[in-house]
Amino acid sequence: MRLTLPKILSLSRLKTLLLIVSFLFILYILFYRRDCRAPPTIISRAFDYPLTRRHLLFAIASSFQSWPRRKPYLRLWYSPNSTRAIAFLDRVAASDAGNDSTVPPVVVSADTSKFPYTFRGGLRSAIRVARAVKEIVDRDEKDVRWYVFGDDDTVFFVDNLVKTLAKYDHARWFYVGSNSESYEQNVKYSFDMAFGGGGFAISYSLAKVLARVLDSCLVRYAHLYGSDARVFSCLAELGVGLTHEPGFHQVDMRGNLFGMLSSHPLSPLLSLHHLDAVEPIFPNMSRTQAMGHLFEAVNADPARILQQTVCYDPSNSLTISVAWGYAIRMFNGNESLLDLLSLQKTFMPWKRSVTIGASHYMFNSRDYPKDPCKRPVIFFLESVRPDKGGVWSYYTRHVVKECVRPDSIKNLKRIKVISQRLELDIEQMKAPRRQCCNIFPSFNESMVINIRQCGVDELISMHF
Ligand SMILES: *[C@@H]1O[C@H](CO)[C@@H](O)[C@H](O)[C@H]1NC(C)=O
Ligand SMILES: *[C@@H]1O[C@H](CO)[C@@H](O)[C@H](O)[C@H]1NC(C)=O
Ligand SMILES: *[C@@H]1O[C@H](CO)[C@@H](O)[C@H](O)[C@H]1NC(C)=O
Ligand SMILES: *[C@@H]1O[C@H](CO)[C@@H](O)[C@H](O)[C@H]1NC(C)=O
Ligand SMILES: *[C@@H]1O[C@H](CO)[C@@H](O)[C@H](O)[C@H]1NC(C)=O
Repeated sequence: MRLTLPKILSLSRLKTLLLIVSFLFILYILFYRRDCRAPPTIISRAFDYPLTRRHLLFAIASSFQSWPRRKPYLRLWYSPNSTRAIAFLDRVAASDAGNDSTVPPVVVSADTSKFPYTFRGGLRSAIRVARAVKEIVDRDEKDVRWYVFGDDDTVFFVDNLVKTLAKYDHARWFYVGSNSESYEQNVKYSFDMAFGGGGFAISYSLAKVLARVLDSCLVRYAHLYGSDARVFSCLAELGVGLTHEPGFHQVDMRGNLFGMLSSHPLSPLLSLHHLDAVEPIFPNMSRTQAMGHLFEAVNADPARILQQTVCYDPSNSLTISVAWGYAIRMFNGNESLLDLLSLQKTFMPWKRSVTIGASHYMFNSRDYPKDPCKRPVIFFLESVRPDKGGVWSYYTRHVVKECVRPDSIKNLKRIKVISQRLELDIEQMKAPRRQCCNIFPSFNESMVINIRQCGVDELISMHF
């Protein structure tokens, strides 16, 4: 008996205690944990679930005048199902008022007449275009991790952009882009400015802050020429510098881009700009047809587009450089790898002036022989066919002039390349390595090349 009373007491106490504990636990589950998760800016969750195309919001700078002409370029990379983009125009024609789903929806930019513009001979529209940064952020669209800015003549390679931006945490402040290919343009503007036509990306958290302060910068930097310089100056005032990604291409060049496209850096292709200022990138096609042709390869294996692989055929003394999805160059003899990686100057400077600086570039280059017979034999992309075993791409010989070529390639008309879809994870993206290739030993009219990962200590050189 003596024992039972305290036992009953302690039992009921225990019950109460249990009740209180579970009540507190429910409260914790309901409020505390949820509270903890609410503000996404406090805890960086960038890598919790991967970046997808839907996390990118593009702002395209356009105008009433250029919009109709640039739609074919936009259709190449924009898809209403998977890409989010808005075009900013000064005014909109009635026929463009919103239902062509093959191009991004258009909005009319806000009035900027109250902002000063003092660059002599420049264009006031620079203010309107710079202000798209604020206007797109102020729309407060859901689930944006990166804002990407470009012109209506910028062609983006969206899957590669997703892979590249996934290397960076959107909850931190990032300004990602590239400067001009032209030394002189960089001297004039800045080596550390992302040129607007090549396009650039601003992380969500940085864009939020930039949008708040941009207007005051627009007043302070009235003396600058372009929109990109205005954004760059404001970011500099916020204490942020550029993260260089060499896949963005302002393309401050004219003429034939062949030399540039056939020796692309190891990083993925992210953008091409000024496409109306250069020749069509494939022979015998219009500019948009040619770009559309490149996209047949882009759609089959986006990460591999333009990636350069070099193989040597010592028995026939040939050097072959593949720019995947675009063109193959075949050289007679033992061409050094470093020469192949430097750009053949098939193009001309952006500025038509004769100053020495104008023809200086930001990359190593070498001359392109005037005599077609001294140039490599070129094979341009014909078609791409993905199948279970990999991706087959076919290239056909481009004949400009009858030249004396080695007997081994006299009959060669076509090259077939087999490769696997290039799927790099974030760690591989941070430390990329060029791939290797083999030439199938006997060929006559048609040659087969296999692109594959290099062996651990395999070297890219001509050896027996
Ligand atoms: C977009 O999605 C719709 C329905 O899901 C489909 O009918 C349409 O073909 C898609 N368009 C493109 C360009 O993929
Ligand atoms: C857009 O809608 C207008 C009227 O609503 C129509 O006249 C026009 O043809 C449509 N344009 C397209 C591209 O569907
Ligand atoms: C150029 O293209 C046209 C049709 O697209 C074709 O008939 C012609 O043979 C081509 N010319 C060359 C040199 O490839
Ligand atoms: C190579 O192709 C040519 C036609 O282009 C043909 O005449 C020749 O017999 C072929 N040689 C071999 C070894 O198959
Ligand atoms: C090719 O050139 C490199 C460097 O110039 C040289 O080391 C190598 O032995 C050459 N290979 C052949 C097969 O001639």
